[in-house]
Amino acid sequence: MQNLSERDRAIIWHPFTQHLTDPCPIPIVKAQGAYLFSEDGEKYIDAISSWWTNVHGHAHPHIVEMITKQAQTLEHVMFADFTHEPAILLAERLLPILPRGLSRFFYSDNGSTAVEIALKIAFQYSYNNSPEKPKRKIIAFRGAYHGDTFGAMSAAVRSTHNRPFWPFLFDVDFIDPPYHGKEDVSLKQLEELIGKDDTACFIFEPLVQGFSGMVMHSASGLSQLMKKCRDHHILLIADEVMTGFGRTGPLFASDQLSEPPDMICLSKSLTGGALPLALTVCTEELYEGFLSEERSRAFLWGHTYTGNPLGCAAALASLDLLLTPQCHRQRVTIEAAHQSFKQRWGSQWKRCDVLGTILALEYFDPSDTRYFSKMRDRLSRHFLNHRIVIRPFGNVVHVMPPYCIEEDDLNAVYQSLLESLTCL
Ligand SMILES: Cc1ncc(COP(=O)(O)O)c(C=O)c1O
Repeated sequence: MQNLSERDRAIIWHPFTQHLTDPCPIPIVKAQGAYLFSEDGEKYIDAISSWWTNVHGHAHPHIVEMITKQAQTLEHVMFADFTHEPAILLAERLLPILPRGLSRFFYSDNGSTAVEIALKIAFQYSYNNSPEKPKRKIIAFRGAYHGDTFGAMSAAVRSTHNRPFWPFLFDVDFIDPPYHGKEDVSLKQLEELIGKDDTACFIFEPLVQGFSGMVMHSASGLSQLMKKCRDHHILLIADEVMTGFGRTGPLFASDQLSEPPDMICLSKSLTGGALPLALTVCTEELYEGFLSEERSRAFLWGHTYTGNPLGCAAALASLDLLLTPQCHRQRVTIEAAHQSFKQRWGSQWKRCDVLGTILALEYFDPSDTRYFSKMRDRLSRHFLNHRIVIRPFGNVVHVMPPYCIEEDDLNAVYQSLLESLTCL
């Protein structure tokens, strides 16, 4: 009988993997709390919450129970022509905690589709309003990542990564994120772009750009950019696929901004990391732009698993946990621990930033190749040898643990980070 690694190697193609040179994926047979257990009996600390999804720990009994109950009642039904309580209730419960004005909930199943839907809504809203002269441009941040579908890819930085697809991506105007102390630079870049009344929307990852290496920027700078866009009737899309549900401290990164967005994209921690589900939530004004006696003005898009009841049940359970004082305390404790690590050891790295439960560290790398840095493999091996899951972006690593992580485990992660400095 072959083991899981051998069977995997014979048949599976993994994401973000160079199969010729990367080590074989580690077979995981069980997960509990902040731990992953491998086929060969090892226990790993999930220090990046399984791609930023898992906030309350794996196999949380409350989430498992709610999914199980839902599975016994209604596991799936198509969401056009039909509806169900888990989807309605989840929207009702999110409504009061989302940034003000966001009141129409469109379901899908992953972060990329949430973004794709937001972009489509922005373009079609403009088309519905003015079919003879629809707004065709969008503004995004340099360094952005919004997902893997073509619209989401178009709104992202052009890099070696997406080079094969450049000819197929639509044009986007990029501006610098408002880095601390350089807010004026982005504002000036924005002002040069927005005079012509041809921009439909501005899409951004608020406060931290995840995929480009947890690069952080200023809340006041972003608020200024948003205000300027709003004054020019440019729709604001906050991509909170990564930052949503407490990652940056408050429930949403948008809570730290003075302007609310017109649309928000949510996924990842929406279900506490248990099941795929996503939401694009928009204002009533946008929704009304699609109401018409003419069917062609409707938003005639959607995905097969839109509003899946099991996903909604998981999200409702995750929300129960998220809104407890205990969860708030856990987030405060992690942030305080990150801050004291930064204060004591941060200067050992080229960059050490903290935002809420996110700790980002950039290693000095003379090759300056970032994502393709040779350091990546060495760092990855180092952390896995310490039984810690940290997936480096080139010479940048980050710690973004489930909120339930125990102090000893967080300290083990910090210790391993310090030891990584000597393995380079
Ligand atoms: C900010 C942001 N938007 C969108 C996505 C895409 O999400 P998904 O991988 O679920 O399609 C990601 C994924 O990392 C993300 O970080």
